[in-house]
Amino acid sequence: MAAISEQDVMDVLKQVKYPGFDRDIVSFGLVKNVDVEGSTVSFVLGFSTQDEPTRQSITVAAREAVSRLPDVEDVQILGPPPGAASGAQQPMGAAQGKIELPGVKSIVAVASGKGGVGKSTTSVNLAVALAESGASVGLLDADIYGPSIPTMMGSKDQPGVIGQQLIPLISHDIKMMSFGFLIPEDQSVTWRGPMVHQAVQQLLRDVMWGELDCLIIDMPPGTGDAHLTLTQSVALTGGVVVTTPQDVALIDARRGVAMFQQVNVPILGMVENMSHFICPHCNERTDIFTTGGGKRAAEALGVPFLGEIPIDPSICLAGDKGIPIVKQEPDSPQTQAFRMLAEKLKDSL
Ligand SMILES: Nc1ncnc2c1ncn2[C@@H]1O[C@H](COP(=O)(O)OP(=O)(O)OP(=O)(O)O)[C@@H](O)[C@H]1O
Ligand SMILES: [Mg+2]
Repeated sequence: MAAISEQDVMDVLKQVKYPGFDRDIVSFGLVKNVDVEGSTVSFVLGFSTQDEPTRQSITVAAREAVSRLPDVEDVQILGPPPGAASGAQQPMGAAQGKIELPGVKSIVAVASGKGGVGKSTTSVNLAVALAESGASVGLLDADIYGPSIPTMMGSKDQPGVIGQQLIPLISHDIKMMSFGFLIPEDQSVTWRGPMVHQAVQQLLRDVMWGELDCLIIDMPPGTGDAHLTLTQSVALTGGVVVTTPQDVALIDARRGVAMFQQVNVPILGMVENMSHFICPHCNERTDIFTTGGGKRAAEALGVPFLGEIPIDPSICLAGDKGIPIVKQEPDSPQTQAFRMLAEKLKDSL
């Protein structure tokens, strides 16, 4: 009989997806210490999530996958190795308990399954609209690979440091932190999971956020390392999912909703960005893409619909210039849409 190798075991475990995420449990660094002794396979699942249903569903799926290998008679799955929580290979670190931000009243993650739908634009303008309504607001750029906040908020300074803590930069009355402030603009980051995990944790834990009514987190596209870290290492008040009206974006938005639900983060609502065009000359509304998809998707998923943001060149230009549209054109319909979004969000917090 052909002996199975540790690589065979890893290969089948690479087929096991982390519930709610695109990625598999091996790429998230969960599988450790694979050992094959005759027909007995053992390995460690280095969980850091405390969520029992998630742990069980992964354990069952991993056991099934390995059992299907020919000649495997016994599968032994062990818990995290002692001291694993502090190891660099630990992908989530939540085993040490969640990061506490005692001065921060609510933490809202802005996500979407798909890239380029306007998460950063929404995060920035939502933050400014909330601040204008009297709230103290922070903005954390969790997009390690492609940070947008420095450009969109018009600040490229380097943050100061006190002891081990970074001092957030302040722009448009918002306290901000981004990896874009810490690495040169032309340098691309090619980090793997554990490093992304540590970087995101650092942006939460090692920043003097102080007292905030709301910390908005601008998430990277997709459902990857940063998402897993954030949903597991800090108590998120809720998630906002941004979509555009096209079916392709809506499919991804559903995955974004599913990701939050899988890790028990409440969905505060869905936003439809680039929803329609309002003619600056005659104020007539044109639905460029299909219409009402975001609202229908929210209804079908049973999550609140927070509103529609029009598509307008001024939003893009304002973002490029570093003066969010809510500041730049306070009386425009675009700004009105972001203000309504902020009001609805405030109500749900
Ligand atoms: N309503 C809008 N009208 C016009 N342009 C918009 C609108 N929303 C976003 N944009 C522009 O679309 C581009 C993508 O937006 P943004 O960077 O906010 O998306 P994202 O979802 O954060 O992208 P990524 O997934 O890369 O992080 C930007 O150039 C932005 O200025
Ligand atoms: Mg972005």
